[in-house]
Amino acid sequence: MNQDNNDPYRPRYHFTPPQNWMNDPNGLVYYDGEYHLFYQHHPESTVWGPMHWGHAVSRDLLHWEHLPIALYPDEHGTIFSGSAVIDWHNTAGFGAEAMVAIFTHNFDDGTFRAQSQSLAYSLDRGRSWTKHDGNPVIPGPEGQPDFRDPKVFWYSDPALENEGHWVMVLAVDRGIWFYISPNLKVWTKTYEFQVSTLVAETGDWVWEVPDLFPLQIEGSPITKWVLILSTQIESRDAGMGVQYILGDFDGQTFSPDSAPLRWADFGADFYAAISWSNVPNDRRLWLGWMSNWAYARETPPTTWRGMMSLPRELALVRNEDRPDLIQRPITETQTLRNEHWHWSDTTIATCNQELTDLSGDLLEIMVQFQVNNSVVDHFGLKIYTAEDQGLIIGYDPKRQVVYIDRSQSGLVDFYPDFAARHHAIMAPQANLIKLHLFLDRSSMELFANDGRVVFSERIFPTAASFGLSLIGADEQVVSLDVYRL
Ligand code: FRU
Repeated sequence: MNQDNNDPYRPRYHFTPPQNWMNDPNGLVYYDGEYHLFYQHHPESTVWGPMHWGHAVSRDLLHWEHLPIALYPDEHGTIFSGSAVIDWHNTAGFGAEAMVAIFTHNFDDGTFRAQSQSLAYSLDRGRSWTKHDGNPVIPGPEGQPDFRDPKVFWYSDPALENEGHWVMVLAVDRGIWFYISPNLKVWTKTYEFQVSTLVAETGDWVWEVPDLFPLQIEGSPITKWVLILSTQIESRDAGMGVQYILGDFDGQTFSPDSAPLRWADFGADFYAAISWSNVPNDRRLWLGWMSNWAYARETPPTTWRGMMSLPRELALVRNEDRPDLIQRPITETQTLRNEHWHWSDTTIATCNQELTDLSGDLLEIMVQFQVNNSVVDHFGLKIYTAEDQGLIIGYDPKRQVVYIDRSQSGLVDFYPDFAARHHAIMAPQANLIKLHLFLDRSSMELFANDGRVVFSERIFPTAASFGLSLIGADEQVVSLDVYRL
């Protein structure tokens, strides 16, 4: 947990930098009992600038130890986003079990801008880093300023035991380029995934921060590959976010299923999400930067800026016509639970009488509503901090829309569109609407209907403690659980 207990906006169980600016997570890798989290960092300012890789480690993904900066800018440029792997077979020749970072060098002298891919390695569990002397390993193509954010993983052909190669996905303008390599140093391009590959909702912004990983559909022998990217879309109410598409991958080429790109998160504050490599037991864990480029530099001033989402476990679950990517809070979050309140088979009115004494700024809330031909326009929860201040987590049963309304959530006028309502379509499941929320001071994450619809939102309340009430009319509250974390 963070030590900074007096800062009302400093989350307690989410990762934040010790001070100054942070954006994307980078180099997520598990090794020798530790989860590594590197991140885009400007160590001298609370706004974006020359990027470094900050560094922290954790054994449970919730309690983080800050480590010294891992990568500094050099003659090839500043250090943009990328990934990290353990080179188990020493393919690169850096040494046994080297931790290798694959990142973008961003060169910008004011008149000329270019991006290229480079390597650095560590032989001491990520504590000290050496840049590869053959950098960059993939120079930027001429005339292509957007060529960045390599995500690398080891692909082994199921038919050929002990054989395999490295795969890199790279964001290039509005496309994802695929490369393969035997040794992380020499790369061959194999495939381009473009907007025109399928009908996609596109905006005028480039694609960033790709990822690619396999997931088995729950309850089925079928495995699909999930291609991830982050982008900004003017027409979307949350402005920008993370998208995914499912498909097949043969080690070189991705064949997308004929479906459009879909949003992974419907809030305004989830971007540049990537997954950890090398995690035991086949868990696919990821997190994202919990902010938004539209206002990240203007969020209420403190000595730090930027936070990460909760780490989440990904799964594919069958839906009527296609599998959905769902996100569940990692089970480790249950170790944070303290005091617990529970109600079941009751009504909104009864709950509200008993909720008046409950307050806190570190809460986990789980509520299940029964929807029986509901006649109201909306029901849900209000997290309030003062008389007229609050955050609404609502459900509109007629339109089957779940929404977050943060227009009166405290400080909102530092950016014109911050005070907004964000929506997602969600049908009840067996007549139930299930809302699972995490509040951590200046953040709220909602996992609705078991993680089928997720929202990540920043809030800046002007009082330091939250109260809670239910909104609606005659809906039955099947259960309500509140934990102080
Ligand atoms: C995404 C991004 C990346 C880039 C990094 C720079 O938020 O724009 O594409 O590598 O941030 O800090």
